[in-house]
This record gives sequence, structure tokens and C-alpha cells, in this order.
Amino acid sequence: MESKRIAAEKAVELVKDGMKVGLGTGSTAYWAIQAIGRRVKEEGLSIQAVATSVQSEQLAKELGIPMMPFADVDVLDLTIDGADEVDPALHLIKGGGGALLREKIVAAASKQLIIIVDESKDVKQLGIFPLPVEIVPFAFELTVKKLRKLGCEPKLRKNGDELYVTDNGNYIADCEFGAIADPEALHDDLNRIPGVVDNGLFIHMASLVIVGSADGSIRSITKE
Ligand code: A5P
Repeated sequence: MESKRIAAEKAVELVKDGMKVGLGTGSTAYWAIQAIGRRVKEEGLSIQAVATSVQSEQLAKELGIPMMPFADVDVLDLTIDGADEVDPALHLIKGGGGALLREKIVAAASKQLIIIVDESKDVKQLGIFPLPVEIVPFAFELTVKKLRKLGCEPKLRKNGDELYVTDNGNYIADCEFGAIADPEALHDDLNRIPGVVDNGLFIHMASLVIVGSADGSIRSITKE
């Protein structure tokens, strides 16, 4: 928890007055939203934000962070979000919390995507974490078969006895590929399957990764 919090607080130092900011989702982004809320309250930081999930939007509103409608968004100055895995090229696996589609839409609208993680997420090669793939409910069994043909073992995510449903009304297939040799090619292969809405590979999107460690140290990795 401490390593997530220190990474989040370091990232929030980059938020400046007047910025349009994307708020991520998950237990690390939680700390960033808390820190932004504190700066809004204590320093009068003036920003406008959009959120990547219903959960983050509720938290932001509770903390008094001014939210803007997506209709008013052209470009966001920065987005701060977590990740499930980060590789040395700054490619990511995201979606462990089920918010990958909204996260990717918001990231794609951002000049900078700042990723905050603890050191367990910093990996040499993506793929230990099962890759979340968002699929539409219509004929999902067929889509799952097509995913399997790409060489993974897909498991439909559950919420108790029911299938997990995303904020967008879709399902998530968690796909165990093992080590992913070519994340960019896999990203494209997955998104070519009709029924796949998007997948949790974020390729060439992150501009800065901030890694917090349990000993209190922080490491920043930038795109080469
Ligand atoms: C949400 O769907 C995810 O992409 C999260 O950003 C990711 O799972 C990291 O979550 P934690 O910060 O909770 O580990």
C-alpha cells in the first residue's frame, strides 16, 4: 500500500493549475485521486477532471474535484493511472480492475499518460498477468473460441456466481498467454476479432512510469 501511495503522490506533483486531468482506476489510482483532492482543498488547485470508471468518478466527486463532461474534452494534459504490468518499452497490461476500455479512451486523449505502480508490476516481459480482453455479450462463446485460437486459455471473469459486467455492459475474458513475445502484434490480432471491444495491452501510450518501492524509494522510467 505504501509503495502505491508514494508513487501516486509523486505523480500528482506534476498536476498544475488549469490542467485537464484524467483520473485512473484501481488501488494505486485511488491514492492519486486522494492526493489531487487534497491539493484542490488545501492549495486551491484549479483543474478539471474526467474519470475512467464509475468508481473513480464517485470518489473524485466526494473529494470535491471538479469534473468536466466528455463533450468538453478535446485533449487532456495528463492522465494518472495504474497498471498490472509494465515492460522496459513502457508497454502495459491493464484491466485487472475491469476498466481497460475507458482507461484506453482517456489515455488516448491525453498528452501524457503517467503510470504509477509498485515494484511487483515492473517486469522484463509482459504476460504473467492474464491479459484482460473486453468482449460484447452477444455470441460471447464464439468470441472466446476465437481468443483460444490465438494461443491462450481464456477465463470469463466472474463476480460471485454471475459473469462480471464492465461499466460499459460487456464481459471480460482474462487470457493467459504466458510470456508475450510481441505485444504490438498480439494487440492487433486481438482487436481484429469481431466481438472484442478492446484489450488490456497499452502500446506506445505511457510517457512516464513511476515505480514506488516498499523501502520508500521512487524510480521514474521515461520513454527512450
Ligand atoms: C483497472 O482496470 C486497471 O487497469 C488498473 O489500472 C490496474 O489493474 C492496476 O490496478 P491496481 O492499482 O489496483 O493494482
